[in-house]
This record gives sequence, C-alpha cells and structure tokens, in this order.
Amino acid sequence: MLALICPHCREPLTLADKTWSCPNGHGYDQARQGYLNLLLVQHKNSRRPGDTPAMLGCRQAFLDAGHYQPVSDEINQLFAARSPAHLLDMGCGEGYYTERLANALPGTVCGGLDISKDAVLKACRRSRSTQWLVGSSARLPVADASLDAVLCVFSPWSWEECQRVLKPGGHALLVGPHADHLLALRKNLYESIHPTPELIKALPAGMQIVNDQTLRYDLKLEAADLANLIGMTPHGFRSRPERQQALLESGVPELEVAMRMVMLQRC
Ligand SMILES: C[S@@+](CC[C@H](N)C(=O)[O-])C[C@H]1O[C@@H](n2cnc3c(N)ncnc32)[C@H](O)[C@@H]1O
Repeated sequence: MLALICPHCREPLTLADKTWSCPNGHGYDQARQGYLNLLLVQHKNSRRPGDTPAMLGCRQAFLDAGHYQPVSDEINQLFAARSPAHLLDMGCGEGYYTERLANALPGTVCGGLDISKDAVLKACRRSRSTQWLVGSSARLPVADASLDAVLCVFSPWSWEECQRVLKPGGHALLVGPHADHLLALRKNLYESIHPTPELIKALPAGMQIVNDQTLRYDLKLEAADLANLIGMTPHGFRSRPERQQALLESGVPELEVAMRMVMLQRC
C-alpha cells in the first residue's frame, strides 16, 4: 500500500474495515468499486473536474486499440531499469499506462491518481490490485518521501509536490508532446498552429535530468481511430467540426507520434 495522508490535516491514514481514518478523526470510505476519494470539495475547481466522460470514452477506445502501446512499453522499460518499490501515476486518467506498468513491474506497489472520478471509476474496472485514488496532483494525498517514483503522462504536475513525496534519489518520469507530435493532424485542423509549450519550462533546484529522449513512430489510423484521437484531446472542442469531418474523410497519411520522455531524479 502507498503511505496515504489525510487531505484535511496531513496526518497518516490507516485502513480498518474499509474506512481510512487519521488520528484527528477524519474518515474516508473505500468505494465499493475499489477507489478512495481524497479530493476535498474545496480543492475542486469545478463540480466535475478533469476530463469529460466523452473524452474518457474516446481515450480508452484509442488506447485499448494499442496506438500508444510503444509509449507504454517505453515507460515500462524506463522504470524496469530502476525497480521502484512504490510508484504513483499522477493524472492517470482511465488507467491504461498505470495498469500496463503494474503488470510489467509485479514487485512494485502502484497507485493511480486522477482528479476526475469518472476516470478513476474506469481505471477500477481495469484492475483491483492497483491503488486508485481521486485526488489532485497539486495536493498529493501521499506522505513525504514515501515514493520511489512518480509518472505523469500528458497531465499537470506540481514540482513542489513531486519533490515532497519522492524519496531522495527517487525518480519522476514526465511524458508530453514534442513539437512534432501529431503535427499533420494539427495542420489539418487549424488555420495556424500554436507552438507546443516546452515540457519543462524551468527545472527546480533539487531535481536533475537523468534521461531525455523523444519516442517517434508513424500512426496509421482508420476514421474511427482518428475520431477517437480528436475526441480524447482538446482538439475535439477547439477545432471546427467541418474541419474534423473533412479530416475523417480524407485521413492523415503521414501522422507521427513524437513523445518527449524526461526522467528526473530528486537529488
Ligand atoms: C490528457 S489526460 C491524460 C490521462 C492519462 N495520463 C493518459 O495519458 O492516458 C489528463 C488527465 O489529467 C487529469 N487531471 C487534470 N488536472 C488534474 C489534477 N490537478 N490532478 C490530477 N489529475 C488531473 C484529467 O482528469 C485527465 O484524466
């Protein structure tokens, strides 16, 4: 189990009879689906934070079709070389990467955390052995220096929280788009494309980059896969529907995945 802390008072949580409680009497029930909700109402930025159920459905279909399996395999390899005892996937979504990682590293205690309860509910259906949490990466409900590794794939993270929860020498793997990622798709969807923000804008003191690579490969997608790809990203609501439709009809012949993967270590 991961070392969980109370989101109210930051004291350790212990489990007894399907309820997690802290010494100050705050209690949190384990949901019957298997997740634990440690997101306080006052820490939600909306009634239903995170990705919408429609986006989640598209992402699950796209990921389960295996289009990003090389990304998942590379993540697994990068962590296998380090054998972390305790790992948390921050912004795990519907748990595709978390679950594949947990299967690849049977000796690792894996947790997945997302601010979207809908996402975590889907993740619970993938497995009951991973510790699924509703919570925010901005306030991780995890004890100081209790994790050997954190993962963050296309999700927001807090440097302060990463450094707080990682043991000295622990690793953080950040995965996000390189400027070339799905460029042909974006060129077709928009008049002009915005530059991709740098994955790491400024490296905080106390973290060092130990590996920085970009995974590249071509995607060949049928119209249904393309629709899922658009629907699982903000392109689904940012781009014009007629452009999306035209693209589904024409297809995108040279579509490149370009994923930046940066492994950092807490000094
Ligand atoms: C683009 S999705 C990526 C999901 C998953 N990592 C994947 O690649 O399949 C971003 C995820 O971050 C979650 N998210 C957004 N803000 C968050 C926060 N403050 N804390 C935790 N999760 C957050 C969203 O609900 C969503 O599931």
